[in-house]
Amino acid sequence: AMIDKGNHRHFMQKEIYEQPVVVAQTLRAYLRRMENEVAMPDMDFDLGAVRRITIVACGTSFYAGMVAKYWFEKFARVPVDIDVASEFRYRDPVLEKGGLALFISQSGETADTLAALRHARAADQIIAVVVNVPTSSMAREADLLLPTHAGPEIGVASTKAFTCQLAVLAALAANLARAKGLLTPAEEAEIVWHLSEAPAAMNEALGHDGEIEAMAHLIAPARDVLYLGRGPDYPMALEGALKLKEISYIHAEGYAAGEMKHGPIALIDEAVPVIVIAPSGPLFEKTVSNMQEVQARGGKVVLISDAEGIALAGEGCMATIEMPKVHPLIAPLVYAVPVQLLAYHVAVAKGTDVDQPRNLAKSVTVE
Ligand code: AGP
Repeated sequence: AMIDKGNHRHFMQKEIYEQPVVVAQTLRAYLRRMENEVAMPDMDFDLGAVRRITIVACGTSFYAGMVAKYWFEKFARVPVDIDVASEFRYRDPVLEKGGLALFISQSGETADTLAALRHARAADQIIAVVVNVPTSSMAREADLLLPTHAGPEIGVASTKAFTCQLAVLAALAANLARAKGLLTPAEEAEIVWHLSEAPAAMNEALGHDGEIEAMAHLIAPARDVLYLGRGPDYPMALEGALKLKEISYIHAEGYAAGEMKHGPIALIDEAVPVIVIAPSGPLFEKTVSNMQEVQARGGKVVLISDAEGIALAGEGCMATIEMPKVHPLIAPLVYAVPVQLLAYHVAVAKGTDVDQPRNLAKSVTVE
């Protein structure tokens, strides 16, 4: 079928807006709402026996993997190794027979990831693939195929594929925890409940589009932008920086908030906006103190948090973006929305080619 932009100006904008629907669609394949259970396709191996997971991907899909590492370790207590595909292939990784190798890809055709998959296959790994194109090479070569149901993604900057990957990976983490005997039915029901809340929360996040558009002019003139986050928000900072670089051509870096003082804080002055991704919670205070170090050096902060976080730390920020208060498990899905919208509006303000940024291909099928 012909895919058009509908009433959106760009495919990227359309795809950002589609997220509540396609994430719900994806979750339907992995949650049994009535039974309060997560559900995976049939497996001809014992998930509970998996002792190590190796995650391999590129770009935005790699950042989804970084979030998943956090979940697999936290919920299922399985050690996770993660690497970008172009490094993994050539570093002679130690892969014990029977390990689970997990590949994440929108296209299923990224050359580096596909070669890494074949490398893992040759090393007797069980191959699991989270992929958006069901007819792709990676889908065909999987032992465990975990499709995302994002529909065709046209914009070069990945958006809806990313949040759908997160949805599948969260369900897989819960399934793994159950297989390991680490999840009571009540805890599983709670996870199902929280995941089911994600689409509505993402919808609420989209409601801040106008505000984000209005603040894009604060970022558009910058030469450099920093993104900070902790825990699963650290990969979100990396993702925010990648989105901005790709489509607005502004130099941006994502950093673990606590690493600032080990170097990048030297960059801070009034001309470097700092985007802080920090839902309220146990690590919030720590991130806020990193944020205050930035402010003490004249840095201009945009704080993305919930009402509680903004009440505690919003004063003195150049701008704040208020997200709904959500369970930490779904925060990455929800906070992806403002991060994508910010990059989008900055790019539109700069007049770049949002859907076809220079030098980039949708699917990188060469090494
Ligand atoms: C994301 O916005 C990128 N354009 C890019 O990093 C992408 O995620 C990467 O090339 C991996 O692609 P894949 O998911 O199709 O394997």
